[in-house]
Amino acid sequence: MRSAKRLRNALRAALCGVLLMLLLAGCAAKESSAAPEKTPGKDASSAEETTKTDELTTPEEPTKTEEPAQTDEPTPGAHILVACFSATGHTEPLAEYAAEFLGADLYEIVAAEPYTEADLAYYTGGRCDLEQDDPDVRPAISGAVENMEQYDVVLIGHPIWHGQAPRIISTFLESYDFSGKTLTTFCTSMSSPLGSSAANLYGLVPEDVTWLESRRFPIGASREDVAGWLAEIGLTGSEGSEEAALQMRINGIPVAVQWEDNESVEALIELVREAPLTIQMSMYGGFEQVGAIGSSLPRNDVQTTTHAGDIVLYSGNQFVVFYGSNSWAYTRLGHITDKTAAELAELLGNGNVTVTISVG
Ligand SMILES: Cc1cc2nc3c(=O)[nH]c(=O)nc-3n(C[C@H](O)[C@H](O)[C@H](O)COP(=O)(O)O)c2cc1C
Repeated sequence: MRSAKRLRNALRAALCGVLLMLLLAGCAAKESSAAPEKTPGKDASSAEETTKTDELTTPEEPTKTEEPAQTDEPTPGAHILVACFSATGHTEPLAEYAAEFLGADLYEIVAAEPYTEADLAYYTGGRCDLEQDDPDVRPAISGAVENMEQYDVVLIGHPIWHGQAPRIISTFLESYDFSGKTLTTFCTSMSSPLGSSAANLYGLVPEDVTWLESRRFPIGASREDVAGWLAEIGLTGSEGSEEAALQMRINGIPVAVQWEDNESVEALIELVREAPLTIQMSMYGGFEQVGAIGSSLPRNDVQTTTHAGDIVLYSGNQFVVFYGSNSWAYTRLGHITDKTAAELAELLGNGNVTVTISVG
């Protein structure tokens, strides 16, 4: 099913590409002179100026002034990869959230020579300090992305080391031909801002790469934080539109849901295709609202720790929406992406609600 979707998506992407080219041709004809540069590439000023502000709290000024590209929806039907290097595990969950949200493939960037605790002890003159002091160092990566050509969009996650991306990210960027692709980065740090860490990578890839605005997250950033950033930069996912057509309201209020790509959601779509489904929910346990669907959906229960916003199938025939957390064997159906945990607690934690699901 995924391959059929991919094919449909590829066709959709191709159609969008043609439309975009026609549109651009029209704009070029109208404006004849140079449009603002939106795809920073290799030039003298893009090389890292090794502004080594090793202070954790001192923001660096970006070395490039071009605004990253921003379009309303750059990736209709695009095939997306989330690649992540995470030495101590803080950036990794954010990569997982992004991959889940986008229906993207996930690739872990692993150092051929693993970083030891001593290597990671910064400002000790150890391995990481030495690497970050030398912009030309390229630590080797173990393994490789299979068939990078298939991806239109690549997100790269990493920690901030000495105010910059670790040098292994430079290795990654120089290991593939990113020509014509859309790239962005996200990072976690103790306290440093994004600074010049993203802009200093622009010069490592071909000029026709389109960069979307990068984002620095604090350690422990939530799924909603990541989804919010992705929505801001116009990344909406690589899966088909069937799931997107499934609409949900809580007490009449529309909520945005990233639906899972599984047989349970497909069965739910079929169920509501004829007529909208209304489920009377009941508050339970101080962390969820649960209600009978009225029929059974295919189940594939997995021991799960849920979070606010998660939507799951319980016992094959109960629809559950969480405003808190619980651990049980559920089948995941989706996740509410446009509400914070506080907003969900307000919406779902103050009495029984009615959920309506329909296909738009
Ligand atoms: C070698 C090294 C250098 C670091 N430099 C900085 C820094 O300049 N600014 C900062 O806020 N945090 C810095 N940190 C902390 C990391 O950015 C932070 O812990 C990050 O979340 C780690 O992500 P990870 O667990 O995915 O590797 C540094 C950590 C290491 C190991």
